[in-house]
Amino acid sequence: MSPGESLDPVPDSFILQPPVFHPVIPYVTTIFGGLHAGKMVMLQGVVPLRAHRFQVDFQCGCSLCPQPDIAIHFNPRFHTTKPHVICNTLLSGCWQREARWPGLALQRGASFLILFLFGNESVNGRHFLHYRYRLPLSRVDTLGIFGDILVKAVGFLNISPFQEGSTGYPMGHVSLGGKAGPCGRVPCSRALPRGLWPGQVIVVRGLVLQEPKELALSLRDEAARAPVTLRASFTDRTLAWVSPWGRKKLISAPFLFHPQRFFEVLLLCQEGGLKLALNGQAVGTTSLDQHTLERLRELQIRGSIQLYCVHY
Ligand code: GAL
Repeated sequence: MSPGESLDPVPDSFILQPPVFHPVIPYVTTIFGGLHAGKMVMLQGVVPLRAHRFQVDFQCGCSLCPQPDIAIHFNPRFHTTKPHVICNTLLSGCWQREARWPGLALQRGASFLILFLFGNESVNGRHFLHYRYRLPLSRVDTLGIFGDILVKAVGFLNISPFQEGSTGYPMGHVSLGGKAGPCGRVPCSRALPRGLWPGQVIVVRGLVLQEPKELALSLRDEAARAPVTLRASFTDRTLAWVSPWGRKKLISAPFLFHPQRFFEVLLLCQEGGLKLALNGQAVGTTSLDQHTLERLRELQIRGSIQLYCVHY
């Protein structure tokens, strides 16, 4: 534990699991908080030119012997004349009935992005296959990646907290990022050329540094005035909306920022204001009229953080 890190108990669902970049294969990791509907695992990688097969296993435990049950075994096979994917479940050491999908969207030598949506999986942006769970998701706490695959990144994400029943994550163009590891220094400024409109989403992900002081996200207009700033103060552990005149409106939610932990701030623009979610939890709203929202031109981020990405 680092100096200054809080000893407060933090509910599991508030902890965002850091992404992993270029892990050595075979790779086995704990899934913080386990798997549940609403969680997504993102896998970015390359299929080597001479790949035979690889597998992504959502396991119930991580013991080597006996082998743990595998709730979802996702196994692309490239060595046959018709490359395909096998999915299966391993129960008490026995494979169950295989499910087979032809027309594999993955190719030898090509890079890919797979989203396991637990409900849906998509490969390279296309919905690809649906595998009916044979073991409860709640038993899954480990991810294992084995075989012929080069993994660039593994990410653990939450589906949008705002859209009930939705299976999509807010999309946007990546203005920072795409590279492995931290990609931005603060203070950092991003242009919002067309202002903000209902339905638009801003996502900021980063890592809180050791001994942080504050984190501030300001939305500024053409006159460089910030009609609204979201400020997290580590000294008094408060989160607030701050007006241009310095008036603070405290957000009554658990303080979810912790030194050396990842965070995600999501701002959803809606008619009459902004909705805020932290680490996948909706925590509040602030009112702003549409005229003000449309006139916003810049997102400014500053504070004791390392930025991983800004999407909008
Ligand atoms: C077996 C294979 C296992 C696993 C299983 C899935 O033939 O040896 O590694 O892929 O199929 O059904």
